[in-house]
Amino acid sequence: MCGIVGYTGKRPAVPILLEGMRRLEYRGYDSAGIVIYENGGLTLKKKAGMLSVLEETINGSNFTANAGIGHTRWATHGAPTDDNAHPHIDCSGRIAVVHNGIIENYIKLRQWLKAEGHIFQSDTDTEVLPHLIEQFYRGDLQAALLKTMEMISGSYAILAVCHDEPGRIVVARQDSPMVLGLGEGENFIASDIPALLPHTRNTYLLDDGELADVTPGGITVCDKKGVCVNKEVFYVNWEAEQAEKSGYEHFMLKEIHEQPTALRETLRGRISEDGQSVVLNELDIDPAYIKGLRKVFITACGTAYHAGVVGKYVIEKLARIPVEVDIASEFRYRDPIIGPGDLVIVVSQSGETADTRAALREARQRGARVVAITNVVGSSVAREADDVIYTWAGPEIAVASTKAYVTQLTVFYLLAVWLAEQRGTLLVREQEAILDSLKKLPRHIETLLAQSDRIAQLADRYKESHCMFFLGRGLDYAVAMEGSLKLKEISYIHAEAYAAGELKHGTLALVVEGVPVIALATQPELFEKTVSNIKEVKARGAEVIGVAIEGFMEIEEVADQVFYLPATHPALAPILSVVPLQLFAYFAAVARECSVDKPRNLAKSVTVE
Ligand code: F6R
Repeated sequence: MCGIVGYTGKRPAVPILLEGMRRLEYRGYDSAGIVIYENGGLTLKKKAGMLSVLEETINGSNFTANAGIGHTRWATHGAPTDDNAHPHIDCSGRIAVVHNGIIENYIKLRQWLKAEGHIFQSDTDTEVLPHLIEQFYRGDLQAALLKTMEMISGSYAILAVCHDEPGRIVVARQDSPMVLGLGEGENFIASDIPALLPHTRNTYLLDDGELADVTPGGITVCDKKGVCVNKEVFYVNWEAEQAEKSGYEHFMLKEIHEQPTALRETLRGRISEDGQSVVLNELDIDPAYIKGLRKVFITACGTAYHAGVVGKYVIEKLARIPVEVDIASEFRYRDPIIGPGDLVIVVSQSGETADTRAALREARQRGARVVAITNVVGSSVAREADDVIYTWAGPEIAVASTKAYVTQLTVFYLLAVWLAEQRGTLLVREQEAILDSLKKLPRHIETLLAQSDRIAQLADRYKESHCMFFLGRGLDYAVAMEGSLKLKEISYIHAEAYAAGELKHGTLALVVEGVPVIALATQPELFEKTVSNIKEVKARGAEVIGVAIEGFMEIEEVADQVFYLPATHPALAPILSVVPLQLFAYFAAVARECSVDKPRNLAKSVTVE
């Protein structure tokens, strides 16, 4: 999820590259770099930190290059350092590459390339690319990139340049966006449209498996077999601000729609090819420690805490280990009974939340092993934990967390199955069924997103409400908490989540004529109980929106509206049921004209206690 730009033409390339990178900085901002064709060779400049750090470094250099490539990084493999910043070069310094995405088989390729004599300078997966191109280069950069594509698996948007072919940029795409901008006597390349808008609105959208050969005089596109592809010009009529959001009105909506992709990235390479096992090579924990685990603690704040509540249910159910889940600001001061033999899981999208960091330190001081689930490589929790599992959701910009949450849930499922596998607590058949259902979730989310209009209508209908309730049992209660937080934080409607069976112990007094209630009933073994609870609120005049798995049609007898989810393994239902709740909160906030991406009083990263 980094930003890529490329330019080849007659104008000075550096200002064009930097301006494009500035427009993409919202996608990645922990390091930046460029390579340009300067004085008959390649000149490389790259720096850790914001783009401004790179700009200061090259300030005053009178570069005359008319072609080059640039990159703003959101670290995945390797911390944000100068060496890990892109572009990456081969051993001879004649080939340079920028890359978005993840090369899954980079470890094997790196070993092979090292055996062939290549010398590596970074910890990144990307660095295998210039070395592979170097290995296959016989005077034609595109031919070498085609050969490289045969060797790599994963997702990528790649730009490559070669000292021996000035002005030529070759491009490849697989599961990571890439746009080519058409100029006159000059051409542009970018991972996202905003970078192109100052120069052109005529573009080619590269498709998966396609390569492009870009020179000042023209662009040719071919497929993986080298066969030419005729591309249609896509005219961009978005304004710059819209383009940053890929045409969506808000970052939050964009991020909700990015969830299928984010989830695919989280799963990528983490389920074995035979579909039977979870592969979490990043965990370096002694199997004896896992077998002998006394207890698991999960601690986090806000939405990440809600992901932890789901984590508790699934780890207990699948791996049969007792799990406690705590809000980090409580955990750190409650003198928890914790020590060697325990596993503490901290969850943080940003990896910088002060209370979560403090909880992590507390756990380590007491001798527990700490695993961090985070979205930001090189963040504080990633550095301080014993092990890290990255969520690979890409930068989340809206304050209200959405894609981070579903990817955190995904990691919890993988981790629960992994723990179960080590401890022998899950039948192979059951394990395979869960993993198979996990792989289908991105498609199911797409199906749900296609029903946004209906949710927008519902949100509009209840936009004047002063109070709403979210009910559920078990995993549904965990998701109810997240749905209620989403609604509160962006629409400012007061909302409460309740374990459906608990309502009658006091809070039912608040349910009167017309109060909207969202009732989640996705768990087959709890379905009838939840239906009874829906009847209780209906009897007090509540208006009920039910959320159930398709086929559970009895809910129509008690709910005023029903939203059905595609059939899935019941344990995985939270990843689907949260989607309509996120959309409901979003559309309610829009209908109430709230500041969706930057809600009042809130910040994206809470680095103070
Ligand atoms: C709500 C939200 C917050 C965060 C919380 C923890 O939408 O985003 O509740 O989840 O502040 O942040 P991280 O995950 O960065 O530790």
